[in-house]
Amino acid sequence: MLAVIGGSGWESWSTFQVASEVPLETPYGATSSSIQLGTVNTKPIAFLSRHGAAHSVAPHQINYRANIWALKNVGVNRVLAINAVGGIHAAMGPEALILPDQVIDYTWGREHSFWSDQVMHVDFSNPFDGALRRQLLALSERQRLGLIDFGVYGCTQGPRLESAAEIRRLKRDGCDLVGMTAMPEASLARELSLDYASLCISVNWAAGLSDKAITMDAIFAILNETRPIIQQIIEELP
Ligand code: HPA
Repeated sequence: MLAVIGGSGWESWSTFQVASEVPLETPYGATSSSIQLGTVNTKPIAFLSRHGAAHSVAPHQINYRANIWALKNVGVNRVLAINAVGGIHAAMGPEALILPDQVIDYTWGREHSFWSDQVMHVDFSNPFDGALRRQLLALSERQRLGLIDFGVYGCTQGPRLESAAEIRRLKRDGCDLVGMTAMPEASLARELSLDYASLCISVNWAAGLSDKAITMDAIFAILNETRPIIQQIIEELP
């Protein structure tokens, strides 16, 4: 079964028919929201809202372990994560849709492994290299959706946005886009052998790359504008 982890602006969506809800408890604590089980065009989907149903759980407070564990536990084997990001690469300005292929983790203090009583090192050379990402790229090609097929996702701690100097540093490090939620979500999914792909929506130029201030209003306007295309992607994924 496919899971969709909805990010900001994706607390719910209209074409998803909910059949049942799974409660929040896991051995790692509560998930951000209950997992909704249902269908999109008869395709079974498990949906979880990363920031909670009321958009109240900040990136550094999300219980990523509970979320990923709960999805695995309801029978999910692949996860489409929707992430709002800021663009650094010239092609990744507002409204760009990106399937990153790499990640650099700048977060700290987040519970980021399921393995606390054994020494295990999971291979993470290619964080997003599963069948799901290839299916998304094939769909984009067929339907001319224009998904950008590369990008190094720099994951910052938040919840504040970055300073311009921090973005210059991320750029020197090789980051193409910046967000706050792909890590440790992606590596926890890898620890549980889930096929994980991140579909990023650029909602602003990263700090210092435009003379406009970054506002929540502008961010939510872009999330609303890009909603139909993301819904189409979820509907048409094999
Ligand atoms: N930085 C970090 N996270 C974000 C941004 C940003 O500019 N935009 C949306 N999420």
